[in-house]
Amino acid sequence: MDLMEYQAKELFAKHGVTTTLGKVVETAEDARAAAEEFGFCVVKAQVKAGGRGKAGGVKLAKTPEEAFEHASNILGMEIKGLTVNRVLVTPATPPVEEYYFSFLLDRSNRSHLCIASVEGGVEIEEVAKTNPDAVKKIPVDALEGVTPEKAAAIVDEAKFPAELRDQAIEMVQRLWEVYVEEDATLVEVNPLARLEGDKLEALDGKVSLDDNASEIRHPDHHAFEIREEADPLEAKAKDKGLNYVKLDGAVGIIGNGAGLVMSTLDVVAYAGEAHGGVKPANFLDIGGGANAQVMADGLDVILNDEQVKSVFVNVFGGITACDEVANGIKGALEILGDAATKPLVVRLDGNNVEEGRRILNELNHPLVTQVDTMDGAADKAAELAHQA
Ligand SMILES: Nc1ncnc2c1ncn2[C@@H]1O[C@H](COP(=O)(O)OP(=O)(O)OP(=O)(O)O)[C@@H](O)[C@H]1O
Ligand SMILES: [Mg+2]
Repeated sequence: MDLMEYQAKELFAKHGVTTTLGKVVETAEDARAAAEEFGFCVVKAQVKAGGRGKAGGVKLAKTPEEAFEHASNILGMEIKGLTVNRVLVTPATPPVEEYYFSFLLDRSNRSHLCIASVEGGVEIEEVAKTNPDAVKKIPVDALEGVTPEKAAAIVDEAKFPAELRDQAIEMVQRLWEVYVEEDATLVEVNPLARLEGDKLEALDGKVSLDDNASEIRHPDHHAFEIREEADPLEAKAKDKGLNYVKLDGAVGIIGNGAGLVMSTLDVVAYAGEAHGGVKPANFLDIGGGANAQVMADGLDVILNDEQVKSVFVNVFGGITACDEVANGIKGALEILGDAATKPLVVRLDGNNVEEGRRILNELNHPLVTQVDTMDGAADKAAELAHQA
């Protein structure tokens, strides 16, 4: 999960990273009220996209009236396709210099990486191109982590000014603490600013949290979810613990195992070319436990997608055998009753396939068609979606 700036800053504050929290507001009136409290302030669009400043989403305000005006302009604005629904108002802390700092998971090197540069913050991508030597990339050993010695080495390699050395060493350790203790895959500060009086402060923050860790290790991270941003079907699926991603097509997909579902999407997209170009409508992996309730929950989500015209249930029986899946489908149709309205093409294979197919044959449900091969079933599902 990617966090908004104001959420990232909350985590910064929690771990002792110097930052200014300010107020998150959803109306221009509230922005004015915040500005009355703060005086000279900055109004910042809160969206999960970079380049907000360049898009006109970050404005300084000298008076509450100016804050009101900036907020009116910024709220409702689109930045990289995302609508701005809230702005962060913080006291202005004008930077004297801007630096870049991040910790991230470097998957290709199976390591953690620190990226730091004292050459300009916001333009870091440009600096990386024109003056790559100014952007230091320093691997961090996962077992050793960032000790005070490592933090000092990072600060020295990045060439932070001597006056800021101690503060920078402290800040690097605090940011590493955010990265490790919150199970983040990215902690980025851009700009990390040198303020008047040689104070170091995080003026911006980007944090990506590892959802796999959040589920069990950080129940408090749920508070960071912003519901209106999620697709309503995705939100519903999430509530039911389903691994669902909405796509743009007409053939609903249910499968067990992420790999099988991915290849099902490919096969359906390919089959769709012969049927008016229909495409898969979603990714849904019901995983190992394909009992009636899980199947019903999955079907319920997919059938509520208005774009869906047919559903392809593609299951390879393993630990959960085909007869359990067939009973799951049977039970799901009973649970859903009249809510089940679209044709289902079912392909079962693997463990106990004969019994599974027998159960569905015996059920003889008007909406269910069985096809024994994956390609054949994809073709049938695409055809039904195209006809509808
Ligand atoms: N509290 C502040 N006081 C004064 N100026 C600020 C403050 N916060 C940000 N700025 C100025 O606005 C610029 C852009 O801010 P910020 O980094 O938050 O947005 P951005 O970099 O454009 O967005 P993104 O990081 O999403 O690309 C900063 O480089 C800084 O010069
Ligand atoms: Mg920034």
